Amino acid sequence: IKPLRIALAGLGTVGGGVVRLLDQNSALIARRAGRPIEIVAVSARDRSKDRGVDLSRFAWIDDTTALATHPDADVVVELIGGSDGPALTLARATLGAGKGFVTANKAMIAHHGLELARAAEQANTALKFEAAVAGGIPVIKGLREGMAANEIARVYGILNGTCNFILSKMEAPREQGGGRDFADVLAEAQALGFAESDPTFDIDGVDAAHKLAILASIAFGTQPAFGTVAASGIRHVIAADIAEAAALGYRIRLLGLAEDGPYGLFQRVHPHLVPISHPLAHVTGATNAVVAEGNFVGRLLFQGAGAGDGPTASAVVADLIDIARGEYGPAFAMPAEALAQHQAADPGER
Ligand code: NDP
Ligand code: HSE
Repeated sequence: IKPLRIALAGLGTVGGGVVRLLDQNSALIARRAGRPIEIVAVSARDRSKDRGVDLSRFAWIDDTTALATHPDADVVVELIGGSDGPALTLARATLGAGKGFVTANKAMIAHHGLELARAAEQANTALKFEAAVAGGIPVIKGLREGMAANEIARVYGILNGTCNFILSKMEAPREQGGGRDFADVLAEAQALGFAESDPTFDIDGVDAAHKLAILASIAFGTQPAFGTVAASGIRHVIAADIAEAAALGYRIRLLGLAEDGPYGLFQRVHPHLVPISHPLAHVTGATNAVVAEGNFVGRLLFQGAGAGDGPTASAVVADLIDIARGEYGPAFAMPAEALAQHQAADPGER
């Protein structure tokens, strides 16, 4: 049986997790995928860095873009990050070469998703990004496939693990390790590998806005439009805000919300007061939770680990298993040309 052969760009938190997952679960993955999934080539910035995994069995490629045309690779997995730069160059080159492309890069998909979906369709190949939204939770598949028959009125939830980790550590009682300082908890989230390489993307709501633009595109059949998301983050939330909210029966959560209204699709990210009776008030740590309301299925809640090496690698490898099985359709809710006809409303027009 012919294995699915992978070229892997980026060997940090998520890339390292993918190598470990493919090592540890290789036999069950081969059974479920119908064939083995094997890494053949890898690339990152620093060849000499100890990553805690044996990379000597893979070809090391200094020029990351060259992975796109590596003769032994069927699919490229991009785990570098950044909306443009080497990630986008690699995506374009890979799809241009007619190979499948898997990424966890929400910034790139939020900015260039339509272009890349078009390129994948033209080349009749796969573009997949389950790990880009809500880490290990299969929410893209859940919305795109599981809710495909529904008209979706609203999709909202906790989309950034770092912010949720910070807020829940700040609000926890001192005897449970809580009541901590914002900067101190952010440093811990960075050490745990949850935060973006530029953590202002997390705390200013930009990362959640990237994810919301992708989710909204899938839920509402519009082209991903990051520029129309109104976003603010948790930078200015202080302990006194959290205490005052608690005294009134609320918790503070950074929520992303997209809903179809009379003026079109409305997308926003900002800290919300969530009543203590609402399930989202009880989502703590780097967990994410997404609520989607469909006109036939009703309200669905997707909840689980939203960041970290294991959960994110789980979503990346699930995409690879789909490709190995030959199971992939449009990257978003519908073919790119249909998607291009529908645009989210500009915030200024509301
Ligand atoms: P890291 O910073 O841990 O790893 C990034 C990797 O990319 C490193 O191996 C780095 O090389 C490599 N890299 C950076 N710049 C270049 C370049 N110019 N050329 C080649 N390689 C380069 O990031 P993460 O693993 O945390 O994130 C990767 C992607 O996954 C991002 O898009 C992120 O948004 C997304 N993501 C992350 C999650 C998480 O929990 N961490 C969850 C969901 C998505 P070197 O190691 O040599 O420096
Ligand atoms: N920095 C992101 C977060 C990683 O904290 O949610 C997962 O996308």
